[in-house]
Amino acid sequence: MTGTENGSAQEPKFLIFGKSGWIGGLVGELLNQQGAQFEYGTARLEDRAGVLADIERVKPTHVLNAAGVTGRPNVDWCEDHKIETIRANVIGCLNLADICLQKGLHMTYYGTGCIFHYDDGKFVQGNGVGFKESDTPNFTGSYYSHTKAIVENLLKEFPNVLTLRVRMPIVADMTYPRNFITKIIKYDKVIDIPNSMTVLPELLPLSIEMARRKLTGIMNFTNPGAISHNEILALYKEYVDEEFTWSNFTVEEQAKVIVAPRSNNLLDTDRISGEFPELLGIKESLIKYVFEPAAANKEEVKKAVREMRGR
Ligand SMILES: NC(=O)c1ccc[n+]([C@@H]2O[C@H](COP(=O)([O-])OP(=O)(O)OC[C@H]3O[C@@H](n4cnc5c(N)ncnc54)[C@H](OP(=O)(O)O)[C@@H]3O)[C@@H](O)[C@H]2O)c1
Repeated sequence: MTGTENGSAQEPKFLIFGKSGWIGGLVGELLNQQGAQFEYGTARLEDRAGVLADIERVKPTHVLNAAGVTGRPNVDWCEDHKIETIRANVIGCLNLADICLQKGLHMTYYGTGCIFHYDDGKFVQGNGVGFKESDTPNFTGSYYSHTKAIVENLLKEFPNVLTLRVRMPIVADMTYPRNFITKIIKYDKVIDIPNSMTVLPELLPLSIEMARRKLTGIMNFTNPGAISHNEILALYKEYVDEEFTWSNFTVEEQAKVIVAPRSNNLLDTDRISGEFPELLGIKESLIKYVFEPAAANKEEVKKAVREMRGR
């Protein structure tokens, strides 16, 4: 896996799985902007012959796996669809990693950091100690997270794989339903817990660079630091709509309106900051990539968000 052919540097060619998905779509847009060579895979991940045919057709140098079951409208779906979740998130993901290994290809996997939870020992909420890449997942409260923790543990053995722990991904469009900010702006009540989060416009380009560098192992793929729900909503109020109000509830009250528990955590970002020292802290990144652009278009954003909230 030298990335060279006949002694000369080979232009990377990316094969992306997850064409119809949020992250897969964004990664394709980015590669397009970069003028990079890429194609989307058409196979289901668990279909070995289909994946091999995609690789034969595209002849990639790098594979980007943004495919997986995330559940609609949310991860609670996985509680009642365990076999489908195992098939995509465990069997499919391992199948692709194994084929890539046999073909000498690097694979970047967009996984999740929602496999950790604050505890009463070393990782107390607010004490600033983040879960490292080497820490063993301690949150399997939802079936989605359970499958993600299993696959991460198995993928560790593959020398060709980079696993990115994505968390609460955020984009600038505050009406996009999968955007973490959209979710908390829309809900009647929100909990207020500091969390590590992934500002996609800043971090997704870095994932492509990591693939080019053929980094492997696990990477906490979040901006440094943690930010709470209330801090984000206060930024929205400051930058976009000074009349915006919200109310909080406790984790116990939240549990009554969801099926499976959700994870809250701080991830350690020494590895990603070592690789990319310019990476912004979570609050600075949110201001630069989300709230300053929103402020520049304040009336339109405010109107769209008010319509979405229906109040
Ligand atoms: N969005 C989040 O909040 C979040 C947070 C942390 C981590 N992540 C992780 O990031 C990755 C991408 O997430 P996303 O939000 O972009 O997901 P998404 O919007 O739900 O898209 C998932 C993609 O995976 C494809 N897919 C599902 N099962 C497949 C299978 N068995 N074989 C081939 N393709 C399959 C889907 O295609 P079809 O429509 O054809 O099924 C779709 O293109 C996932 O691993 C997810 O766990 C997401």
